[in-house]
Amino acid sequence: MRLFVAVPFPDEIKNELGKLIDDWRKEKDKVGWVKKENLHLTLKFLGEAPPEKLEGLKENLIASLNGLTAFSTSLSGTGAFPNLNRARVIWIGVSEGKEQLSKLAQKVEEATRPLGFPAEEREFSAHLTVGRVKNDRLSNQLSTKVRACTFEAKGIIVTEVVLYQSELAPGGSIYTPLARFELAE
Ligand code: 2AM
Repeated sequence: MRLFVAVPFPDEIKNELGKLIDDWRKEKDKVGWVKKENLHLTLKFLGEAPPEKLEGLKENLIASLNGLTAFSTSLSGTGAFPNLNRARVIWIGVSEGKEQLSKLAQKVEEATRPLGFPAEEREFSAHLTVGRVKNDRLSNQLSTKVRACTFEAKGIIVTEVVLYQSELAPGGSIYTPLARFELAE
């Protein structure tokens, strides 16, 4: 099973982001745009794991996330990894709530490492991926739109962390929640 752990977003925010993505999609760049229902903030990509590992994984996540409380986050602005001139990933940024998201990522890391999932080498950097660029170079039109984007969504309450299964299908990835870990109020 291909697994990852992420923070989901309310439909209202995904709908707003969906409109933004639809506008960017019009430029016809070679970008794999994330379907609005699939939008999430990845805390850790776990990769392939045998189903036998699932129970232990859930137990460790419950223990590790225990005691963490819900918090507010805000999305703001856009950018690209490694940068907008050589874009691989187009993202929406996080302003408020970065530290708490890092803390969640660290707790997920602590829960998964003892089970043999490889440690993340890069430092966690909270972002919401909206597109994966297939040829490194954005058209001037799209690049201008991304740079000029002032998307903002304030006060989104993060109430849960979700373990997802990712399945590759002809129409794109299908993400299925396998377990939800609620944060305390
Ligand atoms: P991203 O949001 O930072 O792009 C589900 O596929 C999520 O896991 C993606 O949203 C992506 O994070 C992350 N992911 C997918 N494949 C990955 C890989 N090979 N290495 C690291 N992270 C990956």
